[in-house]
Amino acid sequence: MPQTPLPPALHDALVQLLGPSGVLTNPADTEAFCVDWRALYHGRCAAVLRPANTEECAKAIALCHAHNVPMVPQGGNTSMVGGATPDSSGHAVVISTTRMNQIHSIDHADLTMTVDAGVTLKAAQDAASAQGLLLPLSISSEGSADIGGILATNAGGNNTVRYGNARELALGLEAVLPDGSVLNLMRKLRKDNTGYALRQLLVGSEGTLGIITQAVIQLQPAPRSRETALCAVESPKGALDLFAAFRKQDPSAIHAFEYMSGTSMALVNSLIEGAALPLEAPAPAYVLVELASPRADDSLRTLMEYVLGTALEDGLVTDAVLAESESQRQGLWMIREEHAEAQKRAGASVKNDVSVPLAAIPTFIEEATKACEALIPGIRVAPFGHIGDGNIHFNLVQPEGADAAAFLAQDHAMMDAVAEIVRKLGGSFSAEHGVGQLKTYMMPSWRGGAELQTMRRIKAALDPQNLMNPGKVLPPA
Ligand code: FAD
Ligand code: MLT
Ligand code: ZN
Repeated sequence: MPQTPLPPALHDALVQLLGPSGVLTNPADTEAFCVDWRALYHGRCAAVLRPANTEECAKAIALCHAHNVPMVPQGGNTSMVGGATPDSSGHAVVISTTRMNQIHSIDHADLTMTVDAGVTLKAAQDAASAQGLLLPLSISSEGSADIGGILATNAGGNNTVRYGNARELALGLEAVLPDGSVLNLMRKLRKDNTGYALRQLLVGSEGTLGIITQAVIQLQPAPRSRETALCAVESPKGALDLFAAFRKQDPSAIHAFEYMSGTSMALVNSLIEGAALPLEAPAPAYVLVELASPRADDSLRTLMEYVLGTALEDGLVTDAVLAESESQRQGLWMIREEHAEAQKRAGASVKNDVSVPLAAIPTFIEEATKACEALIPGIRVAPFGHIGDGNIHFNLVQPEGADAAAFLAQDHAMMDAVAEIVRKLGGSFSAEHGVGQLKTYMMPSWRGGAELQTMRRIKAALDPQNLMNPGKVLPPA
């Protein structure tokens, strides 16, 4: 498709500012920035801008603002909701943060890391780990997703059950607002009640209020003991009862508590090389539990053996395997982390990243399964996710051999059927992936009235020309 050119004066000013490699306009170079990870959205852009620091980013944004050019912030481009993909008009520029990739410092007194937005989560985790510390946020896309994207989406993941979402980890933040002004909130303070919480407003705003350029991230002491087990259970209720059993003994020891349905696990085992189920036989459902502690003693082993031993005796757990080495631990995690990839390989899928109160999870899974099976015979209902947070990825995979496009044409029917059950149970239609462009249509009925109106007022105050990530989060007025 032909490229929509930038106004020549803007193009020249941007090349002078960012250098030729900082302004990509050749469609062969920009194409990958215009398609999302799920390949649901195929947009176009006038250019991809790649600033190397805050100053370049601020000046580039000021130039685009002056020329009325829409801007789409992009980090690792792993959004599940099309949040970082431009629309098909070709007028917008993508602003990629990948060249802003310095880790500035690690502070052992405050346990913080000061880091650029374009550092991948994995690189930041590794830097913390090299200094005996833990960056306590982990998601399967961490090799690509970056700090800016993590904060912009308020990402959750496997360790949220212990440390909270990205929001809880952001002690400080720097962002460039849609007019190019720099908001410097890079304070390292745990206590700071000085006016509105602008930092928290930027976190989770999905690139609609500005571009995050730097952050101060809260770290933790690195675990010196870990115990990881994969358990077979009979049902979601069994998984929740097991969670309660661990929580009763020591909630602070639970580092991760992940649920996988039998259907979802079977897809991983059949579609991912080297992902064999390390248990005697397939089960209706599974839990991956990880305990961790900065203590180096064997108290976690005692805890794990006590809870699992009792659960096996009671029939709550029907089989279990405990990791006896780091490589076995990684093998168990690989099985969990490949769920999204396995579902991608299985064909078209519709993702419902929902949360409900913990007690409602069994009812939710049962009712939503029935509703989807009634809607599309042969559909593969493959839920999994962060059950300790009440967050189920109620993902729906097309019937085997079905036409992918015909299946996806019914995405709203499936999402709405699931959402109505979620609504009845007091949950949310997006627990961690955000709204992006995929779920804007749900905002009026879920967040309408004064809530949506307040969001629109905030957007209009910071971005009156609607230039920053237009079409995301907020539906057209
Ligand atoms: P992008 O995809 O590039 O952007 C995401 C959104 O943030 C867009 O709206 C974009 O405009 C905006 N944005 C990006 N960078 C900035 C910035 N610097 N300033 C302002 N706005 C910005 N998410 C979870 O929460 N938990 C999971 O467990 C999880 N697992 C995943 C597993 C897989 C295999 C994949 C593919 C995705 C998963 N995700 C998960 C979703 C995704 O990885 C997260 O939303 C992640 O935080 C996005 O980071 P990113 O750098 O790729 O952002
Ligand atoms: C995950 O937790 O692996 C992702 O958030 C899930 C998804 O594919 O929906
Ligand atoms: Zn997830």
